[in-house]
Amino acid sequence: MKSLPTDALNQLFLEARTINDFAPTPIEDAVLQQLYEIAKMGPTAANSNPARFYFIKSDAAKAKLKPYLAPNNVEKTLKAPVVAIAAFDPLFYDKVPKLFPHAPVARDWFKDSPDGGQAAGHMNATLGAAYLIMAARAIGLECGPMAGFDNAGVDREFFGQNGWKSNFLINLGNRSDAPILPRLPRLDFEEACFID
Ligand SMILES: Cc1cc2nc3c(=O)[nH]c(=O)nc-3n(C[C@H](O)[C@H](O)[C@H](O)COP(=O)(O)O)c2cc1C
Repeated sequence: MKSLPTDALNQLFLEARTINDFAPTPIEDAVLQQLYEIAKMGPTAANSNPARFYFIKSDAAKAKLKPYLAPNNVEKTLKAPVVAIAAFDPLFYDKVPKLFPHAPVARDWFKDSPDGGQAAGHMNATLGAAYLIMAARAIGLECGPMAGFDNAGVDREFFGQNGWKSNFLINLGNRSDAPILPRLPRLDFEEACFID
């Protein structure tokens, strides 16, 4: 495999920013489908695919979400054309026989583990949500991920039927003309990495 060109690295990582103010340009449903079709190809343990995504577009659905948002997240979220609830299916292992057909017993590796596979499912669902962020950037959308909300309230409001558990929110869209604060520092290699 060869490295992506600098432009691509810039778009995905080096110049990509968390966006807090979105232009009103809508996102078509077909684009959300394309986004998922790319993101789902990221690797997960035993190909378990525990991440689930609930895309909020309508004013009615945004109104249901609003009471559960941290106050500093309300305005930016209501302006975003789409808010993805990145979630996790606690019963994700029931899909493992389809997803890992050469070893369907992998379902039980998760289900019969001491925590019923919940830590592994949550970890892999978080990876899935991260893949969605990077897929969005790859197709020219920008993201504002947010953990500041009432997870239990969102789960009651949106996932009463299917039992999914919200992980974090991802505002999606195109940035407005509003200025963006300077990039915050990151840890240096020596602070965050070790080569043995
Ligand atoms: C999982 C996650 C949760 C976050 N939660 C919030 C939040 O609740 N509110 C907020 O304003 N920003 C939130 N952020 C945004 C981060 O502060 C931001 O991504 C980080 O400072 C890096 O900014 P940059 O991408 O512009 O470099 C969150 C980011 C992530 C990945």
